[in-house]
Amino acid sequence: MSSKLIVLLVVFSLQCLLALASDPDPVQDFCIPNPKYGAIRTARFTILSCKNSSEATTDDFVFSGMKTAGNFSETGLATIPVNPANFPGLNTLGMSFVRADLKVGAINPPHFHPRATEITHVVQGSVYLGFVDSNNRVYARVLEQGEVMVFPRGLVHFQMNVGEEPATVFGSFNSQNPGNQKIPAAIFGSGIDDKLLEKAFGLSPKQIEMMRRSINPLIQE
Ligand SMILES: *[C@@H]1O[C@H](CO)[C@@H](O)[C@H](O)[C@H]1NC(C)=O
Ligand SMILES: *[C@@H]1O[C@H](CO)[C@@H](O)[C@H](O)[C@H]1NC(C)=O
Repeated sequence: MSSKLIVLLVVFSLQCLLALASDPDPVQDFCIPNPKYGAIRTARFTILSCKNSSEATTDDFVFSGMKTAGNFSETGLATIPVNPANFPGLNTLGMSFVRADLKVGAINPPHFHPRATEITHVVQGSVYLGFVDSNNRVYARVLEQGEVMVFPRGLVHFQMNVGEEPATVFGSFNSQNPGNQKIPAAIFGSGIDDKLLEKAFGLSPKQIEMMRRSINPLIQE
């Protein structure tokens, strides 16, 4: 094979990887999933078949399920993710949304979205927001109602209600399936061998067990 051809092949395969690394451009106005025909699942993505566009209605493009807070966890956080699973009109459009409510003092623990940059809008309250870059530099401060902060794709970020009242934030994502990897659960709730965690964090087996129980209070002694 000539070296030119090899270079072309390498460039082509890189382009394929890049194309798969983010949401593709739509090739039609919209694609309301058709539950009759189900989904084609591959190792890397899911393709939903579309309803005939003549059957789409205005209601397909409206979501009314986030007028009020979702169900609060024990830690005082309630989130309502809004994506094609509950808002089919978003399918193929490369965006999604979330409503998060935090009781006084509650946190949204450090997490990241592997496939999306997020803009968070503080709709109510005072919230300490921030992210950490790949040099472990932190960019964080308290935002008041009406301010927004951007979290670049794939970077760890967090929120804490530091006000005297409940807080509400809305986040929008530039992917219909941003993914959400929560650091505490990914590390201490995923089944990584204890020996590795002990070495990585300088913790004793007992401390590892405490971390594990703080992630999942249902794990008994
Ligand atoms: C979509 O609906 C229109 C109008 O009812 C019809 O003419 C057309 O054949 C349909 N297309 C498909 C692919 O079923
Ligand atoms: C809250 O919990 C109820 C009862 O389990 C459930 O029906 C409802 O869908 C949940 N709401 C959200 C936004 O997850």
